[in-house]
Amino acid sequence: MNNLKSSGFTCWLTGLSGAGKSTLGIEITKALEELSVPCEYLDGDVIRTNLSKGLGFSREDRNTNVARVGFVCGLLNKHGINTIVALISPYRDAREQLKLQIPNFIEIFVDTPLDVCIKRDIKGLYKKALAGEIAEFTGISSPYEQPLNPDITLKTHKESVSQCVETVINYLQRQGKI
Ligand code: ADX
Repeated sequence: MNNLKSSGFTCWLTGLSGAGKSTLGIEITKALEELSVPCEYLDGDVIRTNLSKGLGFSREDRNTNVARVGFVCGLLNKHGINTIVALISPYRDAREQLKLQIPNFIEIFVDTPLDVCIKRDIKGLYKKALAGEIAEFTGISSPYEQPLNPDITLKTHKESVSQCVETVINYLQRQGKI
């Protein structure tokens, strides 16, 4: 890091696969763009096809993935570009590390219960994981460590997408970030 003042913020959506992180990330980004707030959306599924191509789902690889995305966020934030991230990021230690590195880090817990994610199973991955066809699947055969003190908690099974987006935008306004 150099000594330039960081002006951007990072909204980091963490939660299970199928929790709704991508949907919310896209909609939060759209809402910010409508307010003329410069931002870049970084999605786990997309990141894994380029920046983190080749990484697997071991604890070490997931934490490497998180650290890489965090590094990019830090660079963008330094230049005033805000970042919206949707990554499972299941390990607390890796997320805690981000808080130390990114000056305006906002941890958003997409708190959708596992049984709801399994019922949704949008990508059909839970069915495969439960059948033992996917190893180290978050929530099934790999842990998800819930945030202990997130800045924002969104419950997609109880609130609509637009209500969740409003919660985030209101938070950013209250904190003077936008
Ligand atoms: S993270 O754990 O490293 O943060 P990331 O968000 O990048 O995960 O990628 C998760 C996506 O990868 C899921 O939405 C799912 O589509 C896919 N995936 C494939 N294998 C697994 C697995 N074993 N555990 C979780 N997600 C998986």
